[in-house]
Amino acid sequence: MTQVYLNGVFIPLEQAQIPVMDRGFIFGDGVYEVIPVYGGHLFRLEEHLERLERSLDGIRISPPLSRAAWRDCFKELVERNGGGDQSVYLQITRGVASRDHAFPVGVAPTVFVTSSPLKPLPADLAASGVAAVTLEDIRWQYCHIKAITLLSNILLRQQAIDQGAAEALLIRDGVVTEGAASNVFVVRDGVVVTPPKGPYLLPGITRDLVLELATAHGLPCREAEISQGDLHDAEEIWLTSSTREVVPVTRLDGQAVGNGRPGSLWRRMIGWYQAYKQSVRERGGATPV
Ligand code: PDD
Repeated sequence: MTQVYLNGVFIPLEQAQIPVMDRGFIFGDGVYEVIPVYGGHLFRLEEHLERLERSLDGIRISPPLSRAAWRDCFKELVERNGGGDQSVYLQITRGVASRDHAFPVGVAPTVFVTSSPLKPLPADLAASGVAAVTLEDIRWQYCHIKAITLLSNILLRQQAIDQGAAEALLIRDGVVTEGAASNVFVVRDGVVVTPPKGPYLLPGITRDLVLELATAHGLPCREAEISQGDLHDAEEIWLTSSTREVVPVTRLDGQAVGNGRPGSLWRRMIGWYQAYKQSVRERGGATPV
């Protein structure tokens, strides 16, 4: 039975309950993190904790736990759930209060952490890649905050699925921001390009790792604006996220990307990524690239 952490205690998932007046339920007033675990080791934990602190700061919630306490909490949860490969989900909301848009005073945040087995990616991914569609980025202007308020992301992702695609690539003012739940890379003239960080995209932990791996292995890469036209002319398109690693997009808006098969630079990148994951399994989460 899955164990979870709720407001200071470890309990079985089935017993975890929160009051309906929680501001996460009423307003979507909270932030979250998703942290992969390989061989019992939390992947890039410090980077996830840094982003969590920035998200909390962005919505003006004081960190309910110290870095050391987060580390201990996650470690214990991962152990209680049997180690191995997992995905840890952490959610913090502004707590329980009568419904009022203004922040409640003297209310403790709700802290919930759960974990689920990390499913291996489908074996046919390397052979076929996935389809994506471009959609207008209808989200707000604080996309750098990992907010639980994901209604627009959900609607966009579902629109992509309804069109037979795995992901929506979002376009704001003619340029690509990110996917509905992933960051975007393109290969252009042999150079790996991803949009620069800013308020319109989530600073993905996997995104940063892919840039680090490219740099470490001498693959030219840079952060630069990608227009909708660049996207359609790209030699390769990749999506990155903690749960889907690095996924090749082989069809965009019904057209083949490159030769319609996962590209050669993606193959190199996924090899480096898997090797890095393996080193984390063997040596622990703080492994340098
Ligand atoms: N989402 N952009 C958005 C909008 C995302 O939701 C995610 C990840 C990413 C990639 O970030 P990272 O590499 O740190 O996972 C980018 C998670 C996995 C989710 O919502 O489940």
